[in-house]
Amino acid sequence: MKDWTDTFFEGPWTMLQRAPTTTEPSAEEARHIRRVLRLRRGSKVADVPCGDGRISIELARAGCEVVGVDRCETSVRRARRTFRAEGLPGRFRVGDMRRLRLEPGFDALINWWGSFGYYDDETNLAILKGFAELVESGGRVLVDQVNRERVLRDFREWHDSDDWRVRITTKNRWDPETERIEGTWTFTYGTRRVRRHSSIRLYTPGQMRRLMASAGLVVERFYDGSDGTDFKRGSHRMTTVGRKPRRQRARRQRS
Ligand SMILES: C[S@@+](CC[C@H](N)C(=O)[O-])C[C@H]1O[C@@H](n2cnc3c(N)ncnc32)[C@H](O)[C@@H]1O
Repeated sequence: MKDWTDTFFEGPWTMLQRAPTTTEPSAEEARHIRRVLRLRRGSKVADVPCGDGRISIELARAGCEVVGVDRCETSVRRARRTFRAEGLPGRFRVGDMRRLRLEPGFDALINWWGSFGYYDDETNLAILKGFAELVESGGRVLVDQVNRERVLRDFREWHDSDDWRVRITTKNRWDPETERIEGTWTFTYGTRRVRRHSSIRLYTPGQMRRLMASAGLVVERFYDGSDGTDFKRGSHRMTTVGRKPRRQRARRQRS
């Protein structure tokens, strides 16, 4: 079945992905990610979806072994190019997070920068379960979203930005029944104008905790991925770290 993610992230979005407003915070975001996930040299990390690898490259520079997946071919090609240019050994695949075909065994999986909630609740949960299956027991899954409470408090029906080479006008509508932000985006670049739709489910911390539990993960912490501080009502982002419980050793029966 067709959905908005089939087309949204191709074309003008890939320009926004390269805008300084997107790329400049990457090093700091990755530093917080390494801290909360306790990553060190040699940690195996899946970055899904990885976009053009702006976080992957920072993790790889710190010595992590990174595998990235994204459905956008242009972005995956760019990620490969960046890694090649630095001689770093990341692996990148074009793929869909609803059908991940990666070997399990990661210390952590990151789902960074508003890359969750794209589908219906059932599919979002299936995606999270797929993430949980890929990490080792004791490993962590990180999901970074905007903070729903903040978005609704400061709700802007219209939003304009002039990022780098592309001008964007967004009309937003909050649907209280589906708990989704429906967006109509107009990208203007050069002489071209392209219109796209987005639909993102925003979860409250409580809903996210239950979703994580249904995927077999225990929430370890919520924090604000934009600055690494503890999560609070006014935070810009709600970044959830879920931990996969360690397998209990079977108790030997005493005879
Ligand atoms: C907001 S961007 C975030 C990219 C990256 N995590 C970052 O921080 O730059 C969302 C990404 O999700 C990718 N995407 C959307 N739907 C996807 C899906 N079903 N499977 C894999 N990637 C998907 C898009 O191609 C896009 O690169």
